[in-house]
Amino acid sequence: MSDPLILAATEARTRAFAPYSGFRVGAALLAENGTVITGCNVESASYGLTICAERVALVKAVSEGHVRFTAVAVVADTERLTPPCGACRQLLWEFAPDATVTLADLHGRTAQHTVRELLPNGFDASLLG
Ligand code: THU
Repeated sequence: MSDPLILAATEARTRAFAPYSGFRVGAALLAENGTVITGCNVESASYGLTICAERVALVKAVSEGHVRFTAVAVVADTERLTPPCGACRQLLWEFAPDATVTLADLHGRTAQHTVRELLPNGFDASLLG
């Protein structure tokens, strides 16, 4: 588990605000210029307002001027590695279509995908005309 992006996502996970689900997730994005931006899931008492770790990292990154990414790591602690939900896949597709997605847990298990594999034939600005 020496991948710095996994380490950053693991650390971000410790800040997850998940009092309702108890399901803690951390994410870390690697921007094209080498900057790492992290996120954790933030839940709301109005459950539907909850935002996933991946989208927290994305909106933080975009608000700081990063709009292209080469890799993302997602860390949770489940028996099966946790992949990004559909909403997160959409946002990742728009900002990081060629990024590598590394899924990891706290025991050193990892799996790699690309955003393109996770969201084939995705919708994006190129279709808006
Ligand atoms: N969650 C994430 O943060 N990322 C994922 O990829 C899957 C789900 C969060 C949202 C919610 O706080 C909790 O996990 C349970 O769905």
